[in-house]
Amino acid sequence: MKADFSVQTPSRNYPLFIRPSVKDFQLNKLLNSASSERLFIIVDQHVEQYHGEEIRKMAGGFTDDLRTYVVPSGESSKSYEHWKDLTDFLLNNGARRNTPVLAIGGGVTGDLAGFAAATVMRGLPLIHIPTTLLAMVDSSIGGKTGINHTMGKNLLGSFYQPDAILINTGYLSTLPRKEWINGLSEILKYAAIKDESIFQTCEEIFLKESTAVGHSLLEELIRKCAKIKADVVAADEKESGLRMILNFGHTFAHSLENSAEYKNISHGEAVFIGMVAATRLSNQLGASIEMDVLEKFRGLYEFDPSIGAYQADDLIRAMYSDKKRMTENLKFVLLQDWAAPYVKECSETDIISDAWNYAFDLIQSSK
Ligand SMILES: NC(=O)c1ccc[n+]([C@@H]2O[C@H](COP(=O)([O-])OP(=O)(O)OC[C@H]3O[C@@H](n4cnc5c(N)ncnc54)[C@H](O)[C@@H]3O)[C@@H](O)[C@H]2O)c1
Repeated sequence: MKADFSVQTPSRNYPLFIRPSVKDFQLNKLLNSASSERLFIIVDQHVEQYHGEEIRKMAGGFTDDLRTYVVPSGESSKSYEHWKDLTDFLLNNGARRNTPVLAIGGGVTGDLAGFAAATVMRGLPLIHIPTTLLAMVDSSIGGKTGINHTMGKNLLGSFYQPDAILINTGYLSTLPRKEWINGLSEILKYAAIKDESIFQTCEEIFLKESTAVGHSLLEELIRKCAKIKADVVAADEKESGLRMILNFGHTFAHSLENSAEYKNISHGEAVFIGMVAATRLSNQLGASIEMDVLEKFRGLYEFDPSIGAYQADDLIRAMYSDKKRMTENLKFVLLQDWAAPYVKECSETDIISDAWNYAFDLIQSSK
């Protein structure tokens, strides 16, 4: 079984496979170094519902001793309580240092199961099997694991690289439309920061077709994006420099999600607005980027009307109160041009405000 490519980080190198069906994954070959008779399947509730039987068949090729833990759907599962419950489950079910954990689901399951695998006995073998578009191109790659705290999102966690990533694009057949859009925003982000040709591919897949499911270009698009993420992580595993470019649009997005208390707006929608605002800010600071390339995807998003009521001043205040802020001024990932990102501190409230207003005008238009 030949990997599509290897993710090479200072702490571990591991293969990433992209296949159209789980039947193509031979776990017994992949896991022979784990040599355990038991296997933990940590699976998202909806994925279990739609694909449970197929998953057990795949895992049955490795062992009959399968221990399954179902993660309730939703961000609230990334909590201390669920982490405790899951680590209790692993330990009560006889986890040993070589018992592999399959994390099967979107970013929520991957982050929670990854953090549990990282912490039980200081690390169990972990395989990510992402089932959302976002998890396939982003969250399963790079080793960030963690849970939320009442003080904020992702405040507890660790860097813990998996042993392998298995992407089965077949899972996307049951993914709700809203989740496709969440993934699309991160894909557009890769286009903006690294490879402008991705805009064109997204246009073919998402704007010209009535559905992206099974599109012949989809696998190639996922491969391209996963490779961009892998390359960035390889160069900066623990986000001390380059990895920051993956936060393009996110300074804006986080303040919007925070202000909306994570209701009425999804992460993907917030990232889209954030990328529009960040590109506008880049232009105000000297670039001349053709924004229509990004803005033409506006029609795919269905924003809640309440989002338009936010005021730039309040959102800027929320940006300053971000708990992960390390500098006195706000820090943004900006663009000199498409695919030419840089990081800059900025405290000019009037142009940040202009960027917010520009993005809100766009989402209130019917473009
Ligand atoms: N670790 C990282 O580097 C990283 C990067 C980006 C985001 N994240 C985290 O990822 C999380 C978001 O992940 P997500 O967008 O994948 O959301 P998610 O895991 O909540 O999944 C979204 C929804 O899709 C359902 N679902 C998943 N796969 C399905 C399938 N194949 N068919 C039908 N339904 C399916 C889930 O039950 C859920 O309702 C956030 O918590 C975010 O913080 C982590």
